[in-house]
Amino acid sequence: MIEYAGLTKSFDGVPVLRGVDLAVREGETLALLGPSGSGKSVLLKHAIGLLEPDSGDVEVDGVSIARASDAELRRVRRMVGYVFQHAALFDSLSVAENLFLAQDDGSFSRSRRECRGEAMDLLRRVNLDPGVLDRLPAELSGGMRKRVGVARAIASRPRYLLWDEPTTGLDPVNADTVDALILELGRELGVTSIVVTHDLDTAFDVGDRIALLYEGRIRACARPAEILEDDDAIVRRFVRRVRNAAPATT
Ligand SMILES: Nc1ncnc2c1ncn2[C@@H]1O[C@H](COP(=O)(O)OP(=O)(O)OP(=O)(O)O)[C@@H](O)[C@H]1O
Ligand SMILES: [Mg+2]
Repeated sequence: MIEYAGLTKSFDGVPVLRGVDLAVREGETLALLGPSGSGKSVLLKHAIGLLEPDSGDVEVDGVSIARASDAELRRVRRMVGYVFQHAALFDSLSVAENLFLAQDDGSFSRSRRECRGEAMDLLRRVNLDPGVLDRLPAELSGGMRKRVGVARAIASRPRYLLWDEPTTGLDPVNADTVDALILELGRELGVTSIVVTHDLDTAFDVGDRIALLYEGRIRACARPAEILEDDDAIVRRFVRRVRNAAPATT
């Protein structure tokens, strides 16, 4: 479970998060919508202690991130895969090396051959040709780098996944591949996920529930069918463009 409670965060005196309450249940996939600059990435970063709350807290698997010891924080980080908004690969390392770092469980017990085999499987899962294994990130397209970022996030078989705009910049086929992967990890492996997205297709395809972050708080959080019925004008502005899924208006 990932549970935000009254989390606030300001930068240079400007409040971004004004008291976020949000509980993501075990095994659930929660899609998080919100305007650009509303603090979605900031919200995710708190869950692995990349940012510290001004007040309030987020608990991951029962560990309070605000009060966690270094050892507890390391334990949480090992359980959580993170798909960064801008891939965040090591530029000077090949795709293979970027993946090896994430695959390693600290024991360095696997052979190079095993690692390469696993890395190739990871690439296939995100619809990338294993031939890219020895390329540098700079030699890949933006969408390819994004998918390497996804492969890296799932490499350690995490129980929790934080996806920061996983399909942004991908063509529709690859966006569907990533959506299918999110669903598969949730359904088959019981992974608990937060998926930040501007893509309503993704939100409605993968979200067990959909939440809206607006003006520093969770404005709504409900099942897809329910959020479509929400009367709140702000919520309606964010979900009304959903294809096929709009309820009859009569
Ligand atoms: N480390 C930081 N230092 C100062 N300000 C920051 C920092 N991180 C984020 N911010 C500010 O916090 C606000 C929210 O940023 P955030 O990246 O979370 O937005 P977002 O909802 O993810 O937007 P987008 O949809 O464009 O990715 C922005 O005004 C941003 O400038
Ligand atoms: Mg962001």
